[in-house]
Amino acid sequence: MVLCLVSIAHAAQGTAVWYKPPYTPSKCFGNQNNGAMVAGVSDKLWNNGAACGKMYRVRCIEGANLAPHPCKQGTSVVVKIVDYCQRGCTGDINLSRDAFAQIADVNAGIVKVQYDQA
Ligand SMILES: *[C@@H]1O[C@H](CO)[C@@H](O)[C@H](O)[C@H]1NC(C)=O
Repeated sequence: MVLCLVSIAHAAQGTAVWYKPPYTPSKCFGNQNNGAMVAGVSDKLWNNGAACGKMYRVRCIEGANLAPHPCKQGTSVVVKIVDYCQRGCTGDINLSRDAFAQIADVNAGIVKVQYDQA
């Protein structure tokens, strides 16, 4: 438990939202298919496109709204950054629906997450 808290303290935190397929075209890779475990990032992580192709492990920490029990406990998902979540982006990480569904209830729409480069 102590180790777990320490690792959470060192990981970056933010919010995650999700988007529906199709997951192409993407800002990083055009029409290239990168599978379903993909995500877009906002300015916070985009770094002028340097984020493209990086892998992040994302874990749901808690809800970001009133949705009951949005997080799937004990799960995480590794996603490849393929897109830019534009100005007005409502999360730091915009997960594919498939990726979001692995860690949280899609009905919640938005959750707080912890993420590390994988
Ligand atoms: C998430 O990404 C998709 C695809 O790039 C985009 O259409 C959508 O607007 C983004 N969602 C948010 C909340 O910014």
